[in-house]
Amino acid sequence: MSDEAPSETRGETLPEHVAANREAWDRYAADYVGPGERAWASPEPSWGIWGVPETEIRLLPDDLKGADTIELGCGTAYVSAWLAQRGARPTGIDNSPNQLETARRLQAEHGLDFPLHLGNAETTTFADASFDFAISEYGAALWADPYLWIPEAARILRLGAQLVFLTNGLLMQLAMEEYMKDDPAKATLRRPLFRMHRSVWPDDTAVEFHLPHGEWIRLLREHGFEIERLVEIQAPPDAVDSPKHSHVTADWARQWPSEEVWVVRKRG
Ligand SMILES: C[S@@+](CC[C@H](N)C(=O)[O-])C[C@H]1O[C@@H](n2cnc3c(N)ncnc32)[C@H](O)[C@@H]1O
Repeated sequence: MSDEAPSETRGETLPEHVAANREAWDRYAADYVGPGERAWASPEPSWGIWGVPETEIRLLPDDLKGADTIELGCGTAYVSAWLAQRGARPTGIDNSPNQLETARRLQAEHGLDFPLHLGNAETTTFADASFDFAISEYGAALWADPYLWIPEAARILRLGAQLVFLTNGLLMQLAMEEYMKDDPAKATLRRPLFRMHRSVWPDDTAVEFHLPHGEWIRLLREHGFEIERLVEIQAPPDAVDSPKHSHVTADWARQWPSEEVWVVRKRG
């Protein structure tokens, strides 16, 4: 599905969108240090823009003891830290050296050591059937091409393993004109659903990927995943607008899902 010309970055040959996203995330990384520190220090997982607690939406398996887990686009790797605290043996992969630098510093500060790989979640070097659980909170879930990272996740997961990924809500995608940061989602459809796939921020270079629900279902099933849940996240009553996420208001997200989580399992 990817017909882009490769581009040369730091001596590696990366697909064009992966090179663009590495450059963008190396720039954004400084803004993710504070949130990463707070998330590492938090004993209880909470998810997405609105910090919905794990106790409410239960995205993690009950028993992670001894599980080999992979976080696809781990950023500062706080999700993997939460998995480690639950007895898992986590591994993280991320495309940004600067994000991984923060992750490594936080590992040292919290006395938690697990493998962190610099790489592209679309084409990893992990062996087939290496992991019992995969997760992506705003990582590969939207920054990698689903036609590449979903088959790759299927390859590296064991039979019966779960994949959980959190991304932008479909309705929010349609309610935004484009990714104009100060033009938040409205109560009208502003973009077509058909042929959704790749979008480039007009004022930036970063590339995101989103699919219609029917296409997610087709793609996931094609690669051997059964869909267990699609969690549509609602902003809590006390949520306030986040200046960092000016593409959606709390009021909008109390009425429609600004975020969604796919919980799927590789058929055993
Ligand atoms: C928003 S962060 C996600 C991490 C964390 N959960 C968070 O919300 O801060 C997005 C991460 O995805 C990473 N990323 C983007 N494209 C990637 C790819 N193709 N493979 C692996 N990681 C990728 C970026 O480098 C960035 O660290």
